[in-house]
Amino acid sequence: MVERTLSIVKPDGVRKNVIGDVIGRFEKNGLKVLALKMRHLSKKEAEGFYAVHRQRPFFASLTEFMSGGPVVLMVLSGEDAIRKVRELMGATDPAKAAPGTIRKDLAGSIEENIVHGSDGPDTAAFEIPYFFNTLEIHG
Ligand code: RTP
Ligand code: MG
Repeated sequence: MVERTLSIVKPDGVRKNVIGDVIGRFEKNGLKVLALKMRHLSKKEAEGFYAVHRQRPFFASLTEFMSGGPVVLMVLSGEDAIRKVRELMGATDPAKAAPGTIRKDLAGSIEENIVHGSDGPDTAAFEIPYFFNTLEIHG
């Protein structure tokens, strides 16, 4: 099924100059960029985005990190896009990520792990309109 998913190059990815590397991996694997923009999230915006994690011990640190520098937000589309993006990202902890994945190749730690991808259709349905309105999505 053709799906849409939200991906983010996190502040560490922007800082490390790997925006193009990350997007290139998506494009080479058949995903199409439907929307793209750079933003510096406020703490409140990061908290809203990761609201599902608000009870987790890493919530404060995660939202500090995500609002600590600009990010690249994008909507991707393709066959099985949600699973495909998660597969290309690799496990949350780069030490446990499979060889050849974005996090294995580029990430420094379980928190500063370069990239975000929606983890299911419900999540994508919340995350895409959190950052993009209909007119910004070219699909
Ligand atoms: P994401 O939502 O960013 O795509 O990552 P994910 O699904 O692989 O991982 P998730 O469990 O949703 O966690 C969201 C983000 O929180 C940070 N994190 N830190 N210190 C920790 O133990 C810890 N665990 C998670 C990471 O930035 C993770 O991607
Ligand atoms: Mg997640």
